[in-house]
Amino acid sequence: MDNSIRAVTTVKDEACSPARMRGTVTPWPSRASPFDPAHPYEQGLARTVDGYLRALSVEQKVGQMIQAEIANATPAEVSEFALGSVLNGGGSQPHGNKHASVEDWLALADAYHDAACAGSADRGTGSNAIPVLWGTDAVHGHSNVYGATVFPHNIGLGATRDADLIDAIGVATAKEVAATGLDWTFAPTLAVVRDDRWGRTYEGYSEHPDVVAEYAPRMVKGLQGAPDDDDFLGPGRILATSKHFVGEGQTTDGRDQGDVDCSEQTLCDLHAGGHLAAIRAGVQTVMAAYNSWQGSKVHSNRYLLTDVLKGALRFDGFVVSDWDGFLQVAADPGDACARSVNAGVDMLMVGVEWRRTYHDLLHQVRSGAIPMARVDDAVRRILRVKARTKLFSGVRPSERPAVRDRSVVGAPSHRELARRAVRSSLVMLKNDGVLPLRRDARVLLAGNGADNIGKQCGGWTLTWQGTGNDNADFPKGSSIFDGFVEAVAGNGGTAVLRADGCFDGQSADVGVVVFGEDPYAEGDGDRNHLSYSAQDSEPLAILRTLKERGIPTVAVFLTGRPMWVNPELNAADAFVVAWLPGTEGAGVADVMFRGPDGDVGHDFRGKLSFSWPGHPLQTPLNLGDTGYSPLFPYGFGLRYRDGADGPGVLDETDATHGRPVRCEPSAAGSSYPR
Ligand code: GLC
Repeated sequence: MDNSIRAVTTVKDEACSPARMRGTVTPWPSRASPFDPAHPYEQGLARTVDGYLRALSVEQKVGQMIQAEIANATPAEVSEFALGSVLNGGGSQPHGNKHASVEDWLALADAYHDAACAGSADRGTGSNAIPVLWGTDAVHGHSNVYGATVFPHNIGLGATRDADLIDAIGVATAKEVAATGLDWTFAPTLAVVRDDRWGRTYEGYSEHPDVVAEYAPRMVKGLQGAPDDDDFLGPGRILATSKHFVGEGQTTDGRDQGDVDCSEQTLCDLHAGGHLAAIRAGVQTVMAAYNSWQGSKVHSNRYLLTDVLKGALRFDGFVVSDWDGFLQVAADPGDACARSVNAGVDMLMVGVEWRRTYHDLLHQVRSGAIPMARVDDAVRRILRVKARTKLFSGVRPSERPAVRDRSVVGAPSHRELARRAVRSSLVMLKNDGVLPLRRDARVLLAGNGADNIGKQCGGWTLTWQGTGNDNADFPKGSSIFDGFVEAVAGNGGTAVLRADGCFDGQSADVGVVVFGEDPYAEGDGDRNHLSYSAQDSEPLAILRTLKERGIPTVAVFLTGRPMWVNPELNAADAFVVAWLPGTEGAGVADVMFRGPDGDVGHDFRGKLSFSWPGHPLQTPLNLGDTGYSPLFPYGFGLRYRDGADGPGVLDETDATHGRPVRCEPSAAGSSYPR
């Protein structure tokens, strides 16, 4: 279909303006979608979609509303049930092989494609074939794929304040996903994170809605292209997801999947800006949030998913549930299906029991609990998105233009982009002058993060939690230590690694201790408080030992959130936050060393997109709070040109009062078994 003739309505930027706050109307804007249903292109699309819809049986319509996990649904079952979509959940790869090759991904994508077309086509004529959509969590690059480029997680990207970089990362990520034959990423996460105890803090760009609203359309555009561009959802572009709608960053105590107790005005003004901007940018799917709002599960909240999202905002793509998220809304699975679909969920992402969900959904439709009109609306939305992605062209994944160059997965140009993102994300909190380092220096490196690419990447890589991986699982990637070796090589310097910090007899000009959080994802990362040393005291001991030996020290902190690190700040002469930088750890050395000419090569650029606590229980802590008193404020970040600077000697009293670090599993439970 020729996109060039599509009209894109210029959407007035009617944000949740204060004027609306005084009226009786809801605070939501009157329209956000850029697609004009009255435009001839859209009307042609509608006719095409209705033609396919009319050819589907009720059973096939129900099948289109089911998304099954690749470990649990074979191509033959996709054909038999006319399933509309498959996904590989976090840490799921073809045939359970985390080292699956690009060819393996393509072969399975072809198999699903062929089966779906056979299953959905008019059994008699073979016409009306409806391909399947394959979705994946490419949330910081195509990170489930062996050899792919893993970009910094969103918390580090937030520190760059570089929206152009976000767009470029979206473009690169889309190319890598498309090169493996997949169609759709469940990204970007547009949480506005208000309590850093939350295990998904690092998936958010910021605590500040403006950063999220600025980045959202850029990531969507990078992934999908712009609605009025010829390459919108064309070769090398993939579907984006505005997730998780809405409010997830403000659950009580930061508990994953908890309740958000805020006003509708706050929900709109503080938490919906990224979603609004994503919809304006033409995002084609929205993922419902696990959390509740004022005690009501979003997955069954008709007001939010239908009246607001599809009514007021005119979102014309489709809403996908989160992993089994629909099952959390009622004790009876069938009743849960009905409640979620009637509330506005169009596609059910099913973790394991997709057959049961299929039959439950079919029963609810046949009984009338779910009106046929609702089913037709859901399937029409799904088909419209499939039509926009040009899936109906019928080209098999392995024959698409985007897969001609397999080497795009983990391409050097993408790794250089990721390394640039690492450089721009680093935030310097303290420097007594020990940085930048000379390239002829004798450097000792220590800490459990110095040579650990898996730790650098955090959650959502070859495994869901990001654990159980080693450097060999990230070919062509670089650890932070690798970057140091590269920086001193040929310049008369040395870099010696002792993860445990035992440098007996080693003299050195500087000791660099790289430490931080072990990888986690979702609720597994929920914490009761923000004290780092309460969970790991070794880095502090190493820093103190080096200091006692008169060796200047630098701390490099790998973390998915701001944490209370007063003891470590006191023990280090310089302190750099590297967040979760991904596979291109060498970017850290790029900034920590002088250039080859001895001058500053790359200065620090990163600025905190989250406020930094001065107390382990100081959360929520957000710019604009009454009595706002962070250790380092939102927007803080030192530069070399600022000269030596630091917070002085800090109080090291650990006021956690022995509270356990980890939270007990929340009532909602982990979002899915892995
Ligand atoms: C998870 C996450 C969601 C992800 C989905 C599929 O539970 O909440 O962000 O896209 O399942 O892996």
